[in-house]
Amino acid sequence: MKLREIRGDEKLPLGIGCIDNLLGGGFDRGVINQIYGQGGTGKTNVAMQMAVSAAYSGEKTIYIDTEGFSENRFIQIGGSRPEVSSNVSLYRVSDFSDQEVAVIKAEKMIEKDQRFKVLILDSFTAMLRLERDEKSKNISMQRQLSIMQRLCNEFDLTVLIANQIYFDPDIQGITPYGGYFLDHYSKTILKLEKLQSGTRRMTIMKHRSIGEGNFVDFSITDSGLSCTPI
Ligand SMILES: Nc1ncnc2c1ncn2[C@@H]1O[C@H](COP(=O)(O)OP(=O)(O)O)[C@@H](O)[C@H]1O
Ligand SMILES: [Mg+2]
Repeated sequence: MKLREIRGDEKLPLGIGCIDNLLGGGFDRGVINQIYGQGGTGKTNVAMQMAVSAAYSGEKTIYIDTEGFSENRFIQIGGSRPEVSSNVSLYRVSDFSDQEVAVIKAEKMIEKDQRFKVLILDSFTAMLRLERDEKSKNISMQRQLSIMQRLCNEFDLTVLIANQIYFDPDIQGITPYGGYFLDHYSKTILKLEKLQSGTRRMTIMKHRSIGEGNFVDFSITDSGLSCTPI
């Protein structure tokens, strides 16, 4: 148990003005942040931007990749600067149990070296979708989330989980993966969409101190995210 002074929620800025404004200064530290959307909407761009931005201010990131991390894209976003390569540890995983091992490894690293301030899982659910056994899937998902939640509480870690979507016939609409567990553990949930013009829209679906439905439009450019919509 920790006694804390109340000073307002601490933020991890993304370094992209319009998105930081939407989020009241940046992503909330000490909680699990979730970003979901269809393929190509910009989840990985946001995740990479977070790692780069944290690295610029000397904070270390563990980036767990399940989807094929593009080193070229990371370099375009600023990933070739020496402070980035020395502050970002990348793990590639190949199935859901390997992902759980990576989360446990991250836990050990964060406990040992408190310069690790950010944990990114891009994505949390790609491997989950391939897992057949429902029971072991749920147990592993809950185990991973509870580890991340504890790290958030103890070390003020900022977690970013990228999530995929599917069509839910019950609600006749698009919904993020991970069901109740992931929804419950995610204190911030952001939806990403691609508009007709190619502009991306980020909408707040859940946040502890900002109203749902607030959104911002931005674009993806050669060097990363830009606040000028297309
Ligand atoms: N150099 C670039 N210039 C402009 N847009 C790019 C560039 N590289 C990637 N993109 C855009 O980023 C999109 C992929 O975004 P990404 O973050 O990988 O999506 P997600 O993770 O949601 O599937 C591509 O569809 C493309 O439009
Ligand atoms: Mg992606």
